[in-house]
Amino acid sequence: MKKKIAIVFGGKSAEHEVSMNSARNICNAIDKNKFEILYIGVSKQGSWYEFSNANVFDTYKALNDQELKEADLITLISYQEKPYIFSFKTQEKRAIDCAFPIIHGTMGEDGTLQGFFRILNLPFVGCGVLSASVGMDKEYMKRLMTESGIANSAYMILKKSVPANYHEIVKKLGSPFFIKPANAGSSVGVHKIKSAEDFDPKLKDAFQYDLKVIAEEFIDGREVECSVLGLNQSPKASLPGELIVKHEFYSYEAKYLDPNGAEIVIPAKLTDEQVKEIQNLAIKTFQSLNCDGLTRVDFFVRKDGRVFVNEINTLPGFTKISMYPKMWEASGLKYSDLITELVQLAFEKHQLDNQIKMSF
Ligand SMILES: Nc1ncnc2c1ncn2[C@@H]1O[C@H](COP(=O)(O)OP(=O)(O)O)[C@@H](O)[C@H]1O
Ligand SMILES: [Mg+2]
Repeated sequence: MKKKIAIVFGGKSAEHEVSMNSARNICNAIDKNKFEILYIGVSKQGSWYEFSNANVFDTYKALNDQELKEADLITLISYQEKPYIFSFKTQEKRAIDCAFPIIHGTMGEDGTLQGFFRILNLPFVGCGVLSASVGMDKEYMKRLMTESGIANSAYMILKKSVPANYHEIVKKLGSPFFIKPANAGSSVGVHKIKSAEDFDPKLKDAFQYDLKVIAEEFIDGREVECSVLGLNQSPKASLPGELIVKHEFYSYEAKYLDPNGAEIVIPAKLTDEQVKEIQNLAIKTFQSLNCDGLTRVDFFVRKDGRVFVNEINTLPGFTKISMYPKMWEASGLKYSDLITELVQLAFEKHQLDNQIKMSF
């Protein structure tokens, strides 16, 4: 019997459309001899629907409750320790075997959705609750990296309720420095600060997205990324890729608005020693942050050769131009085999989790 895989896409975050795009690609590439796909869309308002086929991606650019009045409203439930989809229309439940969440940002990548799957006893692709939520919060991500001896930029935490002092930051981090919302993504609210006049309006903007902002030392280096795949005890790293950014930094404009904002070079032009160092650091970061399944680790490689970890992404994009699957392809792992492996890992992780006694 084919395993029933629920591809869960959309969601309430700003990256709803990116998620639809990623999900379309995963549904195209998944091995249909092995898996039956269930198309589960979460609207921008947070309602869950099941769609009968991949036409959902042609019919809707985004999912909004207003346009989905006829659609099949569902929820996921657990009954006798097994997970099911329950349809409000038919009042029937159908068994599912595994979830592949491809919702970026809050309520998708931050551990909340992963917690829901755990409660349902539903195997799911990717990082668990702890690594997902730590990976989303740049402060705790950096604390854990620092504690593990992984080089990352010096930083300060700014709170909305406490007035920030520009000169104090420059004294500690130098000038220019970066500010970013602690919990965001896609470079929203990220700014390079070069002067005191610059600081106040940019900080105000960053505080729009989070009550906590992180100020970081500017690292002048190449932007290199590496894909990691596997369970926490046995991860493997892909060949690294490089983003040659044509803007001052990899801003929202460079990422999404300017089609020539960055050039992708896979594999990155690095020495064998540099490749090894980056792969080892990617694996160390993955293990230190308790990751499972998949994670993309992003680096800065400075002119003097020093390598810094910038951040991790526990649910990287899966669009046609996304780095995560492309770096695996360059490493000899085809897109559809990558998806099969991710689903297999979900079952393995679930089995490991269930070996722990819940009652005594
Ligand atoms: N400390 C830093 N030094 C130099 N550039 C940085 C620094 N932090 C961020 N950047 C630039 O800003 C971009 C977005 O920042 P990042 O921390 O990756 O946020 P996001 O999670 O939104 O991708 C990076 O890709 C890089 O171009
Ligand atoms: Mg980034």
